[in-house]
Amino acid sequence: MDFELKTLNRALVCSEKTDALIVLVPEGLAAGDDALSVLATLAIKSGDLELKPGKLLSAYRTPGIEATRVVLVGAGDASEKNVRTAVNAAMAVLKTSNAQRAVLCLGLLTNLQPETVRAAVVACADASYTYSTTKSKPVAAKLQKLAIAVDSLDPVQAGFDKAIALVKGIELAKEWANRPANHATPTLLAGVAKELGKLRRIKSEVLGHKEVEKLGMGAFLAVAQGTAEPLRFIVLRYEGGAKDEAPVVLIGKGITFDTGGISIKPAAEMDEMKFDMCGAASVLGTFRALAELQPALNVVGLIPACENMPGDKAIKPGDVVTSMSGQTIEILNTDAEGRLVLCDALTYAARFKPRAVVDIATLTGACVVALGGVRSGLFSSNEALAESLARAGDSSLDLCWRMPLDDDYADGLKTNFADVANVAGRAGGAVTAAKFLQRFAADFAWAHLDIAGTGWKSGQAKGATGRPVPLLLDFLLAQATSVSMAPAAPKARAAKGRAPAAKTRA
Ligand code: BES
Ligand code: MN
Ligand code: ZN
Repeated sequence: MDFELKTLNRALVCSEKTDALIVLVPEGLAAGDDALSVLATLAIKSGDLELKPGKLLSAYRTPGIEATRVVLVGAGDASEKNVRTAVNAAMAVLKTSNAQRAVLCLGLLTNLQPETVRAAVVACADASYTYSTTKSKPVAAKLQKLAIAVDSLDPVQAGFDKAIALVKGIELAKEWANRPANHATPTLLAGVAKELGKLRRIKSEVLGHKEVEKLGMGAFLAVAQGTAEPLRFIVLRYEGGAKDEAPVVLIGKGITFDTGGISIKPAAEMDEMKFDMCGAASVLGTFRALAELQPALNVVGLIPACENMPGDKAIKPGDVVTSMSGQTIEILNTDAEGRLVLCDALTYAARFKPRAVVDIATLTGACVVALGGVRSGLFSSNEALAESLARAGDSSLDLCWRMPLDDDYADGLKTNFADVANVAGRAGGAVTAAKFLQRFAADFAWAHLDIAGTGWKSGQAKGATGRPVPLLLDFLLAQATSVSMAPAAPKARAAKGRAPAAKTRA
């Protein structure tokens, strides 16, 4: 969808010719004498419009208003969350109409913040997204253009720009996570990384079986050995900071299909294991957004990508493999494959001397049981890092919840046959998985996001959510804020690729 930020006060918005006008109406509306205010006040007075977030009143060819359709939506106290709810409700109405162009009026909200505009734009994009890649006759969304009408651009322009970048990232993540496994192989994911590598300040590198073997990634190789589909280890770099500045490393679990391997999963809903690369997709999406915004910091993205399949070459329960770290692992359950590919990526991450490493993974069904689809699981032994990630989740409405990492949770990972087992019992499964990863992250500040419940939706609305791209982007931008955003270099200079040096951070 095409977004535009436009200055239109209440009176002007009434004379705007468009297919649909969506008006967010807050509690305590200070009405004026324009047609819109008159309509809204009348509707509230008569009890036909409630201001609870998401309550709607639709009108058609309304006197004094040029737009064909008018949708008044209650926005409650106009918090970002309520604005998101209101926009979602209005977009659901528009989806069933023939409107091609619409105006979303935010002009009735007092003291409009950039974050509110961002929430509105992201919600619009989310509601209008449709997957069509593997349909023979794609049905294009009717709504093509959406103008966001505000009283003045200056205070909210930055929020709008950030939203546009974020939407590009979210949509890339959704697209690749939604593609079925035969249309999103490790090689195809590597192709996405290569495309991203053409964007300003981004470089990409793709390792194959030979290089991964040479690095000694025995745990990653063990998972990949069960399938004929070649593995890929993707390395992305965003270079927006000074050359000697330590990067943040993002690691995305890239299991393009998880059958469980020899410890095979039941048939019901197994198709959803095409989403087992949502972590990888979120890293790709975050790089897409970074390319738009060009913040002053360095970021590395690592994606171990392969399938987890049963077969005559597949790993067997009880097999012991040697990880890149040198630690031996007894694979008691081949379905606990995510931690196996991630542990070698964590070891690889150390070479970047990172200021922080965050892995993102659809790691455990246990996390879905614990937190459902509302919050991602956040695990970290580093207080400052955990705090920054939690805050980024709050500010972007992409919530997470801190989970424990007591050493006692690691007891079940003990085995007589290797340094560590890849599973403990059923109890506390999300935590024991994190405890396994923690053994490979001792040398840097590390956090783990379990997105098994938040990466995609099941049922009627089955599809990827693009989470946690909003959280990751806010986290990274906060890392870069003490040095205002890097100025955009002129195109000619951009080819040489180096960013202006960043100044000291707080
Ligand atoms: N990809 C799954 C986790 C998963 C399962 C995410 C269901 C979302 C919905 C992961 O590889 C897995 O299979 N984990 C096992 C671990 C177990 C064997 C210790 C699980 O959660 O059952
Ligand atoms: Mn699995
Ligand atoms: Zn998995």
